Parts: sequence; structure tokens; C-alpha cells
Amino acid sequence: MSEQLRVGVVGTGGMGTRHASNIDHQVGNARLVAVMDIDADRAASVAEPAGATVFADGFELIASDTVDAVILASPDPTHAALASACLDHGKHALVEKPLATDLAGAAAVVDAEASLGRRLLQVGLMRHYDPQHVAVRDTLRRGEIGHPLLFRGWHRNPPEARPPTSEEVLVNSAVHDIYSARWLLNDEISEVFVRGTTIHPERTDQLDLQLITMVMAGGAIASVEVNKDSGFGYEVGVEVSGSHGMVTTAPHHTPVVRQDGAMAQTVEPDWLARFAEAYIIEVRAWVASVISGRPEGPTAWDGYLTLGAALAGAESVATGAPVAVDPPKRPALYSGRAK
Ligand SMILES: NC(=O)c1ccc[n+]([C@@H]2O[C@H](COP(=O)([O-])OP(=O)(O)OC[C@H]3O[C@@H](n4cnc5c(N)ncnc54)[C@H](O)[C@@H]3O)[C@@H](O)[C@H]2O)c1
Repeated sequence: MSEQLRVGVVGTGGMGTRHASNIDHQVGNARLVAVMDIDADRAASVAEPAGATVFADGFELIASDTVDAVILASPDPTHAALASACLDHGKHALVEKPLATDLAGAAAVVDAEASLGRRLLQVGLMRHYDPQHVAVRDTLRRGEIGHPLLFRGWHRNPPEARPPTSEEVLVNSAVHDIYSARWLLNDEISEVFVRGTTIHPERTDQLDLQLITMVMAGGAIASVEVNKDSGFGYEVGVEVSGSHGMVTTAPHHTPVVRQDGAMAQTVEPDWLARFAEAYIIEVRAWVASVISGRPEGPTAWDGYLTLGAALAGAESVATGAPVAVDPPKRPALYSGRAK
């Protein structure tokens, strides 16, 4: 490996462009060397300022000797095949969430990495790096509020050009919150039940405002509100009640302004603004772990389990009933939980 980690990025939309820029400007021991997007102009506009090479194919980028490690930020259905290619070539990858869009795809990636016997993949479940979430985790791990009993999360989004289906709400968005519940409660999900409603009256068959209730193996309960068209901007937070108290993520970073008889605080417009710092911390930690050879952060197994719970949620939407989650045995490679 060269002195600086040579990173390639596949998919340069909102997320990939931010990762590419962070690699280029925010990480001393890495540089952006390769970019691929099916929109060649978009790829070129990201590659050019960094002096990176534009590839016409994501799999060629992964195979190239000029690339040490890869960030996969193309659309969700492309992740599993690209992540498998990274494993085939022995390349480390930061794979955006979800790891796959179906459980067989996620299982194939986990099986391939487990047979390699070496962790090469980190999944972009980036709440793990958000300082506000980390402060909640630290409070919980220090035992300050006793043992955690109830998790509550909220994930309110600006509208998307194409409103998502019920399943996309779970697989594309709620995976973050499912991860937060597992990570902060330090436990696995045993049951998922989803109730929802629709913000868009013309799409009553698709639930874009969902209340996801989960039962954890140890008996704690988690609930998450995912709203895909909040009407006011972007907001994510968590709250945990324990046997001796309660902990909540700190409020927004923005100042409180009093003016004209009102007191107001600006809400971030989207995830790129809300989690700007977390994305930098995430790529720095990923690069450091690749260079040191000590993998950390959310694993492919976390990707598999969060997707499994999200798909159980989709089944719950279809059946109107709670759905049991019964994953296979945790492979030895993933024996240590992400802290
Ligand atoms: N971790 C997070 O907080 C977070 C936030 C947003 C998005 N994401 C994830 O990042 C990924 C990208 O999301 P986005 O919001 O940037 O979407 P986007 O639509 O803005 O960008 C996707 C890009 O991928 C390109 N693309 C399409 N097919 C491709 C292919 N086969 N190979 C290479 N490039 C291809 C598109 O041209 C586009 O530029 C998704 O998987 C999404 O779930 C994660």
C-alpha cells in the first residue's frame, strides 16, 4: 500500500460526492484517485479537482491496481455485487447502507467475507460516528441511567423527487434507526411490528410515515418514527429511558434567535448538513482502520441484521402483524460487537 491510501469512489451523487470531497480535503492519509458514475459528466466533475481518473465501469475501478480501497455510494440495488467484487479483489470498502436490498444478497456478502476470514467491509451506518449519538452511547455504557429499557428514535426527512414505497422507507431509511436501536441498547431485535400512514393522499397503498416498534431479545422495547416528508426539513434524534434515568441526543447545533416576538432555531435541510461532521469522522476512522489493519465500525453482519429487521418490517406492513426476527448464528468473524 502506498503512503497515502488511494481511494476510489463508485457513485457520485449526493453521498458519493460528499465522501469524495471528504477524502480529498479532510483526510490527511488518503487521496481520491479514481471515480466512476454512470453519469460520466458527474464523475468527471468530481474527479477533475482532485486529479483523479474517471473509470467507465465500477468493477474495473475495483479491480484496478491504482486503487487501494473503495467507497461504494451508487444506488442501493448495486451494493451487494460491488461489495462482493471488493472481497474478490481483497479490497477494503466502505459500503453505503443498505448492504443489499434482499436478504439473500446480504447473506452472500457476509458468507464471502466470513470465508475470507478477514474483515474488509464497513457499512455506512454512520450514526455510529455522530457526536450526539456517541454521547448517548457513552452515557449508556457508563451505566449512568441504569439498564436501558426503552429506545425512541425519530428520523424526519425532506421530500424526495419520487416518494418511496413502504419497503424503501424501511430498507433505505429505517436501517439507520434499526442500527441505532441495536447499537445503543447493545442487544438484538427479536420482533418487528410496523404501523404507518400516508402523507400523500394519492398513494394510500404506500406508507411514508411509519411507526416501527421492535422488541429486543433481552426484553427492552424500541420505537422509531420515520417520516419521509416532514414539511419542515431534516431531523434525527434518539432518546433512551433506563432503570435510573433518561438520555436524549442534544438539540440542534444552530443558535436560538429571538426576533419579532418569536424564538426560533433553524432545522438542517437534509442529512448532508445535519451529519456533515459525522461523515468526516466516519471516513477518517475508516481510512485509519484500513491503514492500521484493525477494522472497526459497523460490519457486513450489522448490514445483514439491520436489513433483516427492515425486511421483517416490510412483511409486517403486508400482513398487519408483528414478525419474528430469527437470524442465523453470528459468524465467528463478527464475534466482537461494534462499540
Ligand atoms: N449514510 C447515509 O447517511 C446516506 C445518505 C444518503 C444516501 N446514502 C446511500 O448512498 C447511496 C447513494 O445515495 P445518494 O443520495 O447519493 O443518491 P443519488 O441518486 O444522489 O446518487 C446516486 C449516483 O449513483 C449513480 N449511479 C447509478 N447507477 C450506478 C451504477 N450502476 N454504478 C455507478 N454509479 C451509478 C447515479 O448516476 C448517481 O450519480 C445510496 O445507497 C443511499 O442509500 C447514505
